[in-house]
Amino acid sequence: MRFKKKILCIGAGYVGGPSMAMIAYKCPDYQVTVVDINSARIDAWNSSQLPVFEPGLDNIVKKTRGKNLFFRTDIENQIKENDIIFVSVNTPTKSYGAGANMAADLQYVEKTARQILKFSQSSKIVVEKSTLPVKTALAMEKILSHAKGKIRFEVLSNPEFMAEGTAIGDLENPDRVLIGSRETKCGLKARSRLVDIYTRWIPQDKIITSNIWSSELSKLVANAFLAQRVSSINSISALCEKTDADINEVAKAIGMDRRIGDKFLKAGIGFGGSCFKKDLLNLVYLCNYYGLREVASYWENVIRINEYQRERFINQILHSMFGTLAGKKLSILGFAFKADTSDTRESPALYITQKLMAEQAEIVISDPRALKNAKFDLAGAKGKVSFIEDPYAAAANSHAVIVLTDWDVYRRLDFRRVYRSMIKPAFLFDGRNILDHRKCFSIGFNVYRIGKPALTHI
Ligand code: NAD
Ligand code: UGA
Repeated sequence: MRFKKKILCIGAGYVGGPSMAMIAYKCPDYQVTVVDINSARIDAWNSSQLPVFEPGLDNIVKKTRGKNLFFRTDIENQIKENDIIFVSVNTPTKSYGAGANMAADLQYVEKTARQILKFSQSSKIVVEKSTLPVKTALAMEKILSHAKGKIRFEVLSNPEFMAEGTAIGDLENPDRVLIGSRETKCGLKARSRLVDIYTRWIPQDKIITSNIWSSELSKLVANAFLAQRVSSINSISALCEKTDADINEVAKAIGMDRRIGDKFLKAGIGFGGSCFKKDLLNLVYLCNYYGLREVASYWENVIRINEYQRERFINQILHSMFGTLAGKKLSILGFAFKADTSDTRESPALYITQKLMAEQAEIVISDPRALKNAKFDLAGAKGKVSFIEDPYAAAANSHAVIVLTDWDVYRRLDFRRVYRSMIKPAFLFDGRNILDHRKCFSIGFNVYRIGKPALTHI
C-alpha cells in the first residue's frame, strides 16, 4: 500500500509511543514510524509487553502495529525516508555544570537536530513535541540552517498535554492541540500541514495555532499552573488540620465557583511525575535568566510547598507512632506517582519510603503495576525493604498501612481483614484521602488523613 503521508517520531517513550500510536490509529492511510536509540525499548514496543503501561494503549497498538505503525532502530534510514519528523526525546533537569538542578538538559534534543541535519536528503518539517524552554526552536533552526543545497527545514512547536494514566483518552479527545510556527509564508504552510493531521479526528476549533514562542512557553506554563493548584490546595490542607476544617469540603465549596473550577484540587502527599518539578524548575531558571527574580521566586514556592507537604506527612507518621519507627513494619500501598501508571519517576512514594527507611523501619511495598520500577528505584537503598503485590499479604503483621497512590483497588480492600492481620494498635495513613475513614476508624484503626483531623482510639 502507498501511504499518503510518512511521519517519523524520534523518541519512543511515554509520549512518543502513545501519541504516534494514536496518529496511526486515526489515520490508517499514514505510515507512522517511531525510532529510538534504546533498542531494548523498541523490542518491547514490538512485543506483547509494551514498555509503558497505559490503559487502552495495548488495544490501539495491536490494531496498528505492523500495518501502519512501526517501531524501529534504523534512525539514519528513517530520517531519510520521512518528511515530517516529531522530536519526542527526554528533556530532564540538567544535573551538571551551569544551571545544574534547574535548567533543562537539552543535549538529547540537540543531538537529534544534528542527526536530522546529517542524514536528511530532502526538506522536512521538524516538530518539537518534547517540552522545551522557550526559544529552543531558535537553536534548532540555527543547527538546521546548515543544510546543504536546496534542503530547508521548518521547525514547529506542538507540545503534548496528555497525562499518564489517561493518555489514550487525552490523545483521542484533547482539550486542545497547540501548534506554534514562524509567521512566515513557509512557517504558515508547514503549520497547516500539521493541522491537517490533527483534523482527521479533532474538531477544528480545538486546534489552536500561535507564534512559536507562545507555543513553547504555554506548555511550561500549563504544567506550572496545574502544579500550582496542587500546591495551593495542599497548603490549605495544613491549615485545615489546625482548625478542624475539612479539606474535601473546602475544595468542593471553592471548586463549584466556575471561575475556580473543581479539577486539580485533590489534597495529598504532593505532586510527582517526571514533568511538574522539572518544568517548574525550568520556568524558574528562565525567569532568573531574564532577571525576573520575583517571578522566579513565586514559582519556586510551588515546589517548596510540595516538599513541605511530603515532610509533614512523614513527620505525622513518625510522631503519631510514638516517635520511633525503628524495627516497625510499615506497608506501603502504592508506589507509582499516580494511579493507572507503572511510572515511578519523581514519585512522592520514593522519597517517603527512603525517609522511612532512614528511620530504620522495615518496609513492604505493594503496587499493582509499579513493582518492577520500585525494585529498580530502591536497588541501592540501605535497610530492609521487600516487595509483595498482594496488598493483604503486604499488610499482614505490619504496624501501619500507608496509602501513597490513589489506585482504585485500595478503595475496595476489605479493611476488616487487613486490620485483623496487623499488629495493634494498628495505624492507617491515607496520603491520598481515598478511603472511607470513618469505617476504618470504626473497625479499630487509628486513621490519619490529609487536611482533616485524625480519628484515633489512642
Ligand atoms: P522518555 O524518557 O520516556 O522517552 C524519551 C525517549 O527518547 C527515550 O526512550 C530515549 O532513549 C529517546 N532518545 C533520547 N535521545 C535520542 C536520540 N538522539 N535518538 C533517538 N531516541 C532518543 O520521556 P517522555 O516521558 O516520553 O517525555 C518526552 C518529552 O515529552 C519530555 O520533554 C517531556 O517533558 C515531555 N512530556 C512528557 C509527558 C509524559 O506524560 N511523560 C507528557 C507531556 C510531555
Ligand atoms: C501532567 C499534566 O497533567 C499533563 O497535562 C502534562 O502533559 C504532563 O504532566 C507532562 O507534561 O508530563 P501527569 O504528570 O502525567 O500529567 O499527571 P497529573 O494527573 O497531572 O498528576 C501529576 C501529579 O499531581 C500526580 O502525582 C498526582 O497524583 C498529583 N495530583 C494531581 C494531586 O496530588 N492532586 C490533584 O488534584 C491532581
